[in-house]
Amino acid sequence: MSAIPPLHAMPMVGFGTYLISNDEVAHSVESAISVGYRHIDTAAGYGNEQGVGEGIRAAMQNLGLSRSDLFITTKLWPGNAAWGDAPKNFEQTVEACEHSLKLLGLAYIDLYLIHAPSGAEQRINQWKALQHLKQAGKVKHIGVSNFTEAHLDELKNAGEAMPEFNQIELHPWSQKPALLSYMAAHHIHPIAYSSLVPLSSWRVAPGQASAKTEQMKADGTDSPFQRMAEKYKVSEAQLLLRWGVQKGYAVLPKSTNLERMRQNIDLFGFEIDAEDMALIAQMDRGDGVAWATGDPRFMG
Ligand code: A2P
Repeated sequence: MSAIPPLHAMPMVGFGTYLISNDEVAHSVESAISVGYRHIDTAAGYGNEQGVGEGIRAAMQNLGLSRSDLFITTKLWPGNAAWGDAPKNFEQTVEACEHSLKLLGLAYIDLYLIHAPSGAEQRINQWKALQHLKQAGKVKHIGVSNFTEAHLDELKNAGEAMPEFNQIELHPWSQKPALLSYMAAHHIHPIAYSSLVPLSSWRVAPGQASAKTEQMKADGTDSPFQRMAEKYKVSEAQLLLRWGVQKGYAVLPKSTNLERMRQNIDLFGFEIDAEDMALIAQMDRGDGVAWATGDPRFMG
């Protein structure tokens, strides 16, 4: 089993960049770093790595930061035969990482993840390639995203080192308790994406597709999270993000709005009490909804 990095290596609140265009993202990333984010999450599949890199460089220059002050994650798009996109083999995975490094303009990536288990028969080769990239110093930490217990067992049964991280959709409506207990038993750190799904303001802009149900949308308008947030004198977004960090999950809120960016990183001045944590524990509704194509754990 690979060594588990100390959690302080990765700030618990990262800035998510999914659905921010390559043109817009440099400004957003620069703003996020200027209001205090030190962890930025992107992916080859977001099509914005070049802009993310520009934003990082601009912020480093303006704020006098060095590369080691920042924790940058990007992800391998593994391919998906069902979408006519051939799964990448070992060499193609190495090349994809080098391409991401070039687009980002970075000498190394802090965390490189396999974005989804859709690589089918190439999953093991992709994982071997990530281990090679780590040994070569191109990436500091490696992990996966949207992997189930079965996908993780596949790596274990092949005698491979286990991932350090699994980035998954996690919020009160998708709590994934069995997967999380498997991950805890195997020392795999959880990173939560789409923590804000229950908000009525979640992905409301045109073209932001998801599998969020009409029931969930209706439930967002008079929500128990809003009432809890009032009790702690925070916003509903802060309550949902605090739930994640209090459970020990790093969170990756995305916003293009400066005030929301500030709010989303300000999570450490209150604590959700045990009674409310117990109430939230009962609100699980199962699979994730952030991907329009359904929970990507079932892509492989
Ligand atoms: P916006 O970018 O307009 O602020 P994701 O799952 O991709 O992280 O989605 C985050 C969604 O939640 C986006 O639609 C974002 O919209 C919205 N959002 C982010 N922060 C807040 C906040 N503090 N309050 C309300 N909505 C938020």
